[in-house]
Amino acid sequence: LDNGVSRTPPMGWNSWNHFWCGINESVVMSTDVSNLKTTLFSFLEYTLPMHLFSTGLASLGYKYVNLDDCWAESERDENGKLRGKASTFPSGIKALADYVHARGLKLGIYADAGNRTYSNQMPGSLHHEYEDAKTFAQWGVDYIKYDNCYHDGTRNRERYTAMGHALQKIKRPIHFSLCEWGQEDPAKWAGAYGHSWRTTGDINDTFASVTWIADLNNRWGRYAGPGRWNDPDMLEVGSGGMTMDEYRSHFSIWSLMKAPLLIGCDLRSVSNRTLRILGNKEVIEVNQDSLGVQGRKLRSKDGLGVWAGPLSDNRVVVVLWNRSELRALITAVWRDFGLSPNTPAIVRDFWKHKYVSMNERDRLTASVAPHACKMYVLTPLQS
Ligand code: DGJ
Repeated sequence: LDNGVSRTPPMGWNSWNHFWCGINESVVMSTDVSNLKTTLFSFLEYTLPMHLFSTGLASLGYKYVNLDDCWAESERDENGKLRGKASTFPSGIKALADYVHARGLKLGIYADAGNRTYSNQMPGSLHHEYEDAKTFAQWGVDYIKYDNCYHDGTRNRERYTAMGHALQKIKRPIHFSLCEWGQEDPAKWAGAYGHSWRTTGDINDTFASVTWIADLNNRWGRYAGPGRWNDPDMLEVGSGGMTMDEYRSHFSIWSLMKAPLLIGCDLRSVSNRTLRILGNKEVIEVNQDSLGVQGRKLRSKDGLGVWAGPLSDNRVVVVLWNRSELRALITAVWRDFGLSPNTPAIVRDFWKHKYVSMNERDRLTASVAPHACKMYVLTPLQS
């Protein structure tokens, strides 16, 4: 949607991949010195924003703190309004939004285009779109993820555009994330109402899931652009089920595909190795590049793939991705990116953080370990 929101893909953290419904942990107290008000926060909400800072991730652009399913009381209040679960959010969602905003971060929330959410623990927003959009705006919510459970069989497009219209009526700029799992080809219509749309079912913490989702999301590349992003689901980097090479591939391809970068691991115990992936500034800059063009799979044979896309200032991002079980050489040729042979280029390796010395003037070859990738940015010196 072209309303100034999410001109580059959103970045942040979401509770689902690690916590599922278990977001209610013990309560701590925090005194906000600015208004001398003592506010109660659950352990998770109090510490999570802090961890975005102490890990350095907030300053790299990870700004959204997104609550997923299970944040609300099971039923609406006597006025029909949604309300935060008192045991998890003792001071309410507005207080949490204020707390998050005071730290320069943004708050995201989850709702559903049906009668109940996936967990069946809270109400959905079907036929309550406008009142819920108003509530979210009053609380100061900045991002809405809209799930697709327990609905009445009406077409997704109808139920999702109802919330899209509601959000357009309220004044607050809110990122609208459609989570209908790619069922009705949302790339073709969701950009008129929303800023990102899921193209697939849920990710899980395996390499097979990453490759499957990457290929599905790749099909919709031409629909992406500033304010309208394909969403291949949240990051599993750091969740523990994959190798570091696999996580680097996952992060490189999500960045190249201009996917929302929503961290899903537990930031309270994140390792330095994981932080070196999630915090790779150069890789993040590819994702946040102002051109906003989704990179794509150009070719692939026997699991050896060349993925690439244009960046601002005539630069090109290239990922050589080895999905096979054996180390292999992968070659990208200048023709792959529309560059004429003999075009001299500066090539930087974004995982080694080094410039590559070039022996050839029309190709880039690398030996790539199984499930690993190489990620380069080429700056042609003439075109
Ligand atoms: C299904 C979505 O696809 C997930 O990302 C997550 O939001 C769950 N629902 C929560 O119930």
